[in-house]
Amino acid sequence: MSKHDFFGRSLTVMNDLTIEEQIFLYQQTKKLKDKAKRKEDLSEFQIEKPVGVYIVFVEPSTRTKESFINAAKFHKMAKVNIFDSEHSSFNKNESYVDTFNMLTGYSDYSIFIVRTKLEGVCKLLDEKVSDYALRHGYEKPSFINAGDGKHEHPTQEILDEFTFLEQMNFDNHFIHIALVGDLLHGRTVHSKVTGLKIFKNVLVDLIAPKELSMPQHYVNKMIENGFEVRIFDSIENYLKQEKVAKIWYFTRLQLERMGEDILEKEHLLRKSVTFNKNFLDFLPEGTKFYHPLPRHKVYPTIPNFLDPLPVNGWESQAINGFWTRIILLSMFGGALNAPFDTSIKPVEVNEEDFIISAPITHGTKGVLKEGKRGIKPIENGTVIDHIAKGQNPDKIYETIMKIRKILKLYEIDSADGIFKSADGNFKGYISLPDVYLSKKEIKKLSAISPNTTVNIIKDSHVVEKYRITLPPFIYGFEELKCKNENCITNPIHNENIHVSFTRGKKDDLICNYCETSHTFEEIWNI
Ligand code: CP
Repeated sequence: MSKHDFFGRSLTVMNDLTIEEQIFLYQQTKKLKDKAKRKEDLSEFQIEKPVGVYIVFVEPSTRTKESFINAAKFHKMAKVNIFDSEHSSFNKNESYVDTFNMLTGYSDYSIFIVRTKLEGVCKLLDEKVSDYALRHGYEKPSFINAGDGKHEHPTQEILDEFTFLEQMNFDNHFIHIALVGDLLHGRTVHSKVTGLKIFKNVLVDLIAPKELSMPQHYVNKMIENGFEVRIFDSIENYLKQEKVAKIWYFTRLQLERMGEDILEKEHLLRKSVTFNKNFLDFLPEGTKFYHPLPRHKVYPTIPNFLDPLPVNGWESQAINGFWTRIILLSMFGGALNAPFDTSIKPVEVNEEDFIISAPITHGTKGVLKEGKRGIKPIENGTVIDHIAKGQNPDKIYETIMKIRKILKLYEIDSADGIFKSADGNFKGYISLPDVYLSKKEIKKLSAISPNTTVNIIKDSHVVEKYRITLPPFIYGFEELKCKNENCITNPIHNENIHVSFTRGKKDDLICNYCETSHTFEEIWNI
């Protein structure tokens, strides 16, 4: 097969497409819809090479699944396969990677559309199944995330943004949007943090009772993106102020995910985010309501009396799922090339920026002075110093034990302790006579106990000294674990995946699969 701009690309999270690529997708969708309306030839959008489209839904769906099936059938050269997950070997404990490796062998080039309860599955498959394709001479397959747990739903985000653009005649200078309902669990509102970046200025009103409010890390990301964010606890209170959005995005309440105490307040929570007749007069002219659907048939946040009114935007929104998904397949299937550079540039990072050489005071002897808790200075070896400096002694001791356990520093002749430094803070140390840590061990140490010092001692003198800080990437250690039980890498799912983390802007560690944020203390499984 010849190469195309988007061949082998995946959409595991919204961020996998650049803003330029997202806008290209929306322009092409508009062109397709306009041409279809005028009943013109649509062959420029159709995939010309044989492509295997695999629809794999391990969680229920109506519109995402059916719109993808219909979109795939638009592409005449596509072989459309609908995987029966309920009766598959998933039920015989087959791993995701084994399953998708095998399916990859059925077409020269495959596009997999995958919905799962577990989070980060597409990301994992994009990494692992590529190895299989390489081993057997197939094109690298594409993976499209059709919703993974409460993580992301990028193709819903694409159809939502396209719908907002349509309402605004494709003017992307400014959007004022209200997100209403269960902002805690709704993956579609979480994807908005990235998807709304196609607008140059964004004002977001978050309307939810505090029990269902948007997780703080998503609010932080919105602010980092330059969005103005306002927070309200109910529709009633939102309508008491004057600056009311013309675009409202409702979500279904997922109270079943919450504890008994929340269920006691169920009625009040629903009332605070459910629209009622008395609110109609407070809406600005031209307001449209949207919803990813399905609506709850007993407790819809958009009640049925609104269906015939001009405020109904959710019906045409759902149809846009068909058009945007046709174009996504046109791109990944090689029918559409972009008039700009789509090559993915590797992020340049200095992998060593966290192990910093520190000055050595001339003549410094083996760090620990004789007499301190009976420890003698060592002649040769390593002293790890400044462990958990400033913490209380219990916490410091806990960190020392953690270092020993993870670096397997137990059955060796060594010592550790806690003492007060000149500035009055407590700190810990581990003294390791005749032991020198490898680069990999120092890297591991920097992820267990950042801001620690490593002293290399030879002939009773410190010959090298390093201050270590949190690494930009943490990977390749079997003791790592993502704390999210829904993450595909969590050991309870037995997929035998080694999780990895990327350092965030606030020195948090983000799981590279489900994007859950961790402190450095939370990533170790001991
Ligand atoms: N919006 C959405 O994802 O709907 P389905 O669950 O029916 O696919």
